[in-house]
Amino acid sequence: MEVAIVQSRALRGIDSPPVSVEAHLSGGLPRFDIVGLPETVVRESRERVRSAILSNRLTFPRGRVTINLAPADLPKEGGRFDLAIALGVLAASGQIDRHALCGQEFIGELALTGTLRATRGVLPAACAAHAAAHALIVPADNAAEAALVQGLRVLPAGHLLEVCAHVNGNAPLRCCSTPLPPPGSAGSPDLADVRGQHHARRALEIAAAGGHNLLMIGPPGTGKTMLAERLPGILPEMTHDEALESAAIASISRRGFRVRDWGVRPLRNPHHTASAVALVGGGSHPRPGEISLAHNGVLFLDELPEFDRRVLEVLREPLESGRIVISRAANQIEFPARFQLIAAMNPCPCGHLGDASGRCRCTEDQVLRYRSRISGPLLDRIDLHVDVPNAAPELFAHSGAPAPEDSAAVRRRVAAARAIQLQRQGVCNAALGNRDVERGCPLSSGQQRMLRQAVDRLGLSARSVLRILKVARTLADLEGGTGPADEHLAEAITYRRALSLRDTGA
Ligand SMILES: Nc1ncnc2c1ncn2[C@@H]1O[C@H](COP(=O)(O)OP(=O)(O)O)[C@@H](O)[C@H]1O
Ligand SMILES: [Mg+2]
Repeated sequence: MEVAIVQSRALRGIDSPPVSVEAHLSGGLPRFDIVGLPETVVRESRERVRSAILSNRLTFPRGRVTINLAPADLPKEGGRFDLAIALGVLAASGQIDRHALCGQEFIGELALTGTLRATRGVLPAACAAHAAAHALIVPADNAAEAALVQGLRVLPAGHLLEVCAHVNGNAPLRCCSTPLPPPGSAGSPDLADVRGQHHARRALEIAAAGGHNLLMIGPPGTGKTMLAERLPGILPEMTHDEALESAAIASISRRGFRVRDWGVRPLRNPHHTASAVALVGGGSHPRPGEISLAHNGVLFLDELPEFDRRVLEVLREPLESGRIVISRAANQIEFPARFQLIAAMNPCPCGHLGDASGRCRCTEDQVLRYRSRISGPLLDRIDLHVDVPNAAPELFAHSGAPAPEDSAAVRRRVAAARAIQLQRQGVCNAALGNRDVERGCPLSSGQQRMLRQAVDRLGLSARSVLRILKVARTLADLEGGTGPADEHLAEAITYRRALSLRDTGA
């Protein structure tokens, strides 16, 4: 007997390599085997496929049925191969036309009744199917997600019988083509809600303009969380590729992708009890962690010193490289993780150091210990440190105070500054390589002297100096893009001192 072959796709990171589902029938005692590194859920597919076939008055072949998922060395998980396996069995037993299967890929989990259920990770498969110039048959509930890949022929189906009728040419499935939803930023809170905090608002704008990481230090209730939540709303609109990448990561995550999140920059704020795996990804079937879910968006770590220090240390590498590689005995999986880090912390364990009320009773030792929970190398990677002190109460007496600027106005300036950077160097300032920083930020001899003094006074590392230069570059870009002026450099230096213990005298 011949072998029937049905094309499907597995998941590896955010890639979706092809899998050939080969079905072979032979005589002998009834058996149904699936080979080719299937995980438990895939092995259970036997029961679903058998029931789906039998409950629809199709014939499950007698004798021996062998399914091979090739290539055999690629781990396979989930119910996504059910549909392809069922079609393989039906094609090998002559119940559907095996030659009509070419040029099409099939993904979907089967219910015992033959109804198709949505599966995780359809978007990466859709991208790959498009690149291979194949049509993609998916469960109806996954259609909107797959249709985000423009130009792909997406054929949604609700039931195994619909797919059979399509393959046999009796009732071809209708192509689902939906226009791309407009990138959404609606619903993200507005900066107009934040009163006062001019210094922190400025730092947030700089962070947005240059893609810099930001640490906010201040007592509880001064608006740090408010500010962080408003960053996605002032970032430039996502490009199509960025939106697709972020959607692909959401698609393989536990929660899955929601079409209304298309083009919305993600904001992730994991709790400080989060484990390293939750933060950077992993597990026996590696899933993206918070840093990947924040890809092209914002990772907000509130109460930074409360995070386990070892958990924070694993952030260092992805902060530099923009990706995370998870090594498993069998293979390595890579997830993109180009996120902007926004962190918040109190100035001391009680949170009130420096208050006019003088109610802070923390000893110098306690303060030092609290701050030393964040390692120097991690702090070095945060370009902007800013104080967020208690606001003056008159700001909240609604009458006289002018209304704060809204997100739309800030976003326009940010977009203009970003455009200058992309035109000049192709990336935002925070992502510049060391050599490019020096080239893009030529300093006069007076400016060099200013920088040297700051290094001596604040005990700055070489990395910090480069970060100061990048911030100075962004400040200049916010004002039209000529070389950084003295005041830009001076301002950039102020963003390194908030946590410098020597400077605060703590
Ligand atoms: N600068 C501010 N402008 C307007 N409201 C503020 C401001 N700071 C604090 N609030 C109010 O206090 C609440 C707590 O602020 P939050 O951002 O959570 O403070 P933090 O994160 O610094 O502890 C906010 O929901 C808001 O109602
Ligand atoms: Mg907070």
